[in-house]
Amino acid sequence: MKNSIGILGYDYVEFYVGSAKMTAYWFMRAFGMKLSGYSGPESGTRDRVSYYLTQNNLKFVVTAPLKPESYEISGFVVQHGEGVKRWALRVKDVDDAFLQAVSHGAIPVQTPTHIEDESGYITEASIRIYDDTELVLLNNDHYSGVFKPGYIAPHFSGNIQSDEPQLQKIDHIVGNVRTNEMNQWVNYFNNSLDFETFIHFGPGDISTKYSALLSTVVHSKDNLIKNPINEPYEGIKVSQIEEYIREYKGSGIQHVAIATDDILSSIRALRNNGVDFLEIPESYYDQLEERNAGYPKENRITEDLSQIRESGILCDIESTGYLLQLFTKPFGDRPTFFFEIIQRKNGAEGFGQGNFQALFESIEGEQAKRGNLDR
Ligand code: FE2
Repeated sequence: MKNSIGILGYDYVEFYVGSAKMTAYWFMRAFGMKLSGYSGPESGTRDRVSYYLTQNNLKFVVTAPLKPESYEISGFVVQHGEGVKRWALRVKDVDDAFLQAVSHGAIPVQTPTHIEDESGYITEASIRIYDDTELVLLNNDHYSGVFKPGYIAPHFSGNIQSDEPQLQKIDHIVGNVRTNEMNQWVNYFNNSLDFETFIHFGPGDISTKYSALLSTVVHSKDNLIKNPINEPYEGIKVSQIEEYIREYKGSGIQHVAIATDDILSSIRALRNNGVDFLEIPESYYDQLEERNAGYPKENRITEDLSQIRESGILCDIESTGYLLQLFTKPFGDRPTFFFEIIQRKNGAEGFGQGNFQALFESIEGEQAKRGNLDR
């Protein structure tokens, strides 16, 4: 099915941070990303500084305030810590997409705006999602500059040695919301962006001994955009979603999942570059080997299982294929936003349901260390 909004795919994700230069350095050193563009006083922007980082089809922007009155950025960082302010969808026609979204209930933030310079023009609009996040509708078909008007080629070398993990593109972006808010946002995406509900995990589907959460995945009808939304569910202890809401001071983006074509070498490179991942207990791999041997030959994991174990990667076997995934520890100073690295094999479409137990127990171990597990 086609999406009536005219979505062509993910474009960039923009983070608001305390220091853009330091965070850009982290993305270059840890993720092996290339510094591709810069916006700041040298390009005529006085109140903020942004670095544009790329690798294959992955595009990140990190932005920090330059002045006390840059409150839109500094206020976000004071409230939420480092996090995703906005993520962009490339669409065929921004005016059409925005009009359709807003006439179906989307909250407008920026009306369609043409921005141009000597390299051409882009059109951008945005709608609000969650407490303080924006979803951008973007068309840059007529722009040939480094990123968008206001950006110039970086003025420092960015010559930083690191292993290149060959991260390819965004696979999905996940939001965390408060108790009883999930359905409201499910309807918001489904109505305003013509998405539909792909899968729902109700009470008891995702739980450990201590805590639980509810999750609904909405997606564009062509499955190009996948958007899971989580909310906490009652449990004996504090669930990871509850911890996020408390520490982020509201609802927002929990993780961005990045696709790779070779997760074993991606994880090797990222670990060499100093990226920390959640630790998975040995018992998980004993069970995985058993489960894998129980599947018909054509469904089994073709990767070397001892390498999967050594790399600490999670694997979920589905009826149509399997997926390999791993989650970083929190990106910034608060236990809020993190990244997922994912490889889908043979058409696997899920989100690692079979790994929820091991994963959430691992997260609970981290929560306990922070003193955020007990009520
Ligand atoms: Fe995910």
